[in-house]
Amino acid sequence: MSKCNKLGIGLAGFGTVGSGVWNTLEKNGALISERTGKGVSLAITKILVRDPKKSRSTTSAVPSEILTTHWKDLVNDPAVDIVVELIGGTTDAFEIVAAALLAKKPVVTGNKALLAERGVELFAISRKMETPIFFEAAIAGGIPIVKTVQDSFIGNQIHSFTGIINGTSNYILEQMTLRGIDYPTALQEAQSLGYAEADPALDVNGWDAAHKAILLATLAYGFPIDPANIHVSGIEQVRPTDIRFAKSLGYVIKLLAVIRERDGGAVELRVQPSFISHKHILASVNGVFNAVSVNSDAAGESLFYGRGAGQGPTASSVIADLVEAARDLAHTSHHRGFLPYRESGTLVPIEETSTAYYVRFDVTDRPGVVAEIATVIAKHKIGISGTHSPVDASNPDAEFVDMVFLLHSCPFGKLTNALAEIETLNCINSTPVVFRIENLG
Ligand SMILES: NC(=O)c1ccc[n+]([C@@H]2O[C@H](COP(=O)([O-])OP(=O)(O)OC[C@H]3O[C@@H](n4cnc5c(N)ncnc54)[C@H](OP(=O)(O)O)[C@@H]3O)[C@@H](O)[C@H]2O)c1
Repeated sequence: MSKCNKLGIGLAGFGTVGSGVWNTLEKNGALISERTGKGVSLAITKILVRDPKKSRSTTSAVPSEILTTHWKDLVNDPAVDIVVELIGGTTDAFEIVAAALLAKKPVVTGNKALLAERGVELFAISRKMETPIFFEAAIAGGIPIVKTVQDSFIGNQIHSFTGIINGTSNYILEQMTLRGIDYPTALQEAQSLGYAEADPALDVNGWDAAHKAILLATLAYGFPIDPANIHVSGIEQVRPTDIRFAKSLGYVIKLLAVIRERDGGAVELRVQPSFISHKHILASVNGVFNAVSVNSDAAGESLFYGRGAGQGPTASSVIADLVEAARDLAHTSHHRGFLPYRESGTLVPIEETSTAYYVRFDVTDRPGVVAEIATVIAKHKIGISGTHSPVDASNPDAEFVDMVFLLHSCPFGKLTNALAEIETLNCINSTPVVFRIENLG
């Protein structure tokens, strides 16, 4: 670095998080500079946006000459030492991050989709160019879980992570639980309160959590994970019936990311709505909060809890990465960001993962239905711990009803075989809905 330790930041994206980074640097810049040491100061020198005329929620005026709509202006500007990618998506963001690394400019990003979907290519460029990518903000917003796993737990073998890492779906499930409202109503409320995007697909279909889970697993186990090889389901199928039934059995439903290393090193990774005991600490993680429970051999059980999104918390993580990048540029020349450290590893096929299950069937209400379903389940040698047909008080004469089965622990593959056969019974009206009952100890 050749500019008296004054580092220029190129900010790609000036929305929720980007303007949070601007505001935090404005407010705490002097303090950050003191803490960074050796007179290092950070200044945003170029900002990429789509619409330069848009009004911005910043605490100080932004000089119009530093705004651009051409990403190459930002990456190629000699005054830009570090590139911060906060535009989202996996196409333009990829171009920007790849070009920055090729120009030997360290990158800070909050973009989990980009790294989960295209991390293999980007980490390869990062390795080749000896230029780091930092991504604390990409997993659980303001919770410093990346540095914890990468640095603080470096001496541990990590046995598992269990996480609530999507605040939007957690908020929706909480409202459904507290107020008995259905999924579409809870989603609409979350959108009007600004907790869910206009297009909430990635939040509610489980993929936002899955992207974060992929990154966590790669940090802990060292190898890149292909999103095509993991099991993901979202909260769209959760009904008030399921929530009431869970409650009556002492459970709550949470969208859980489960990452577990098996003996022999294969890794189980799945995201799905799950029943967990209402007494477990994760059951009390409510609203838009996130929590990640880490189980490791030396440190044992640790829980990290905090705001998983939002302007301030996410900017806090971006700035922590910026300072790390700045310290590297100012003091050393070696690569200190994360790189996958194994070429490959083994993922456990979802068919081989076992838990107990809650299965909801939409059946025609006639005598013998329970026996028909139970016969197939028994044929597949799966134990039944209970059956129940929740009565719909609003419609006691309904022709179609929900029939719930609670099943003992068995491999998921065995369950799917049984369900495929049950679906052919003429009393079954739609694809059965399955939730896992997680025994979290
Ligand atoms: N929001 C959170 O709480 C949060 C938490 C953790 C991680 N993240 C991640 O952080 C990233 C940014 O999120 P955000 O909530 O700040 O997004 P946002 O509010 O939608 O802001 C996106 C910004 O990027 C600009 N932009 C988008 N596409 C562009 C393109 N092709 N060319 C130039 N500029 C473009 C937009 O410009 P205009 O303003 O001109 O439209 C806007 O300033 C995402 O990857 C997200 O997943 C967000």
